Amino acid sequence: MELKSLQDIGEAMVTPGRGILAADESTPTCAKRFESIGVESTEENRNAYRDMLLTAPGMEEYISGVIMFDETLRQSTLHGNVPFPEHLSSKGVVPGIKVDMGAKVLANSPDEKITDGLDGLRERLIEYYDMGARFAKWRAVITIGEHIPTHYCIATNAHALARYAALCQEQGIVPIVEPEILMDGTHTIEESYDLTIETLHTVFYELASQGVQLDGMVLKPNMVLSGYECETQASVEQVASMTVDCFMNTVPAAVPGIAFLSGGQSDELATAHLNAMNQIDGKPWNLTFSYGRALQAPALSAWGGSAENVPVAQEAFMKRAKFNSLASKGEFSADME
Ligand code: 13P
Repeated sequence: MELKSLQDIGEAMVTPGRGILAADESTPTCAKRFESIGVESTEENRNAYRDMLLTAPGMEEYISGVIMFDETLRQSTLHGNVPFPEHLSSKGVVPGIKVDMGAKVLANSPDEKITDGLDGLRERLIEYYDMGARFAKWRAVITIGEHIPTHYCIATNAHALARYAALCQEQGIVPIVEPEILMDGTHTIEESYDLTIETLHTVFYELASQGVQLDGMVLKPNMVLSGYECETQASVEQVASMTVDCFMNTVPAAVPGIAFLSGGQSDELATAHLNAMNQIDGKPWNLTFSYGRALQAPALSAWGGSAENVPVAQEAFMKRAKFNSLASKGEFSADME
């Protein structure tokens, strides 16, 4: 089925029971991931790895969309040589593309980051649409530390996110708006909550100021967590209730869905948190996953760079995809692990 309007595409991306696979690691990030399993990061190996994920039999049952890196959008399946965007569309999975050019040092605040990539973005979006992409991703990074984040960092990143989102919608592409507050550090869950509130208020102010249609976008935020080095770690229930409460206070009901990043949580916790949030009633938007590491980690190690391991790696990927699919409906239980 050809999805035409921004609203149709956005709804399809966040339907309960399905979520997004973030497989858009840039070439340097992919090299880091491959190094962890002792595999050289060549174009051929990256193609083989993405092929393993994107051709996993039945993945379309749990996966609504895949975010790809520019290189992957131009690559093809190993068997049949079908361009990946065409392969995904034929399975009813929406092809997506990461369009930001990475987080760079923020001028006048050297410990903070600003995301690059607005120059030439309109022209790139036109090309990506022609290649079959129907949604895009732009990630802004907010770091918690001594005296940071500054409001300057939050505001400049929010402004850039809104400029990107407006350009996407102009080209018929659904923007995934991703303001990520990093959870590295000793901060408490209350600090995560306050900063996520401030960030989302600022992001939605900018989106409104720049005329972005809220029913034609998807939000990809961090969950509200205790800093990974914080001595007291919040329980799964506390994370779920504070995260939902945070969004109830900041995210307009017109947004069709919130698709979380995993942000370095373990695979199991990322699933448990999503499930617990979906057991809370009364939310106006769908809550699902847009995980990178939490969907891929077991598959990456099982694959280990060898064609022989593809079936076991696909099985490992499908297991996480299925658990997260259940969690997107609040139907997962920890004893399934
Ligand atoms: P993680 O789920 O590994 O955080 O990655 C999601 C993502 O797309 C980050 O931009």
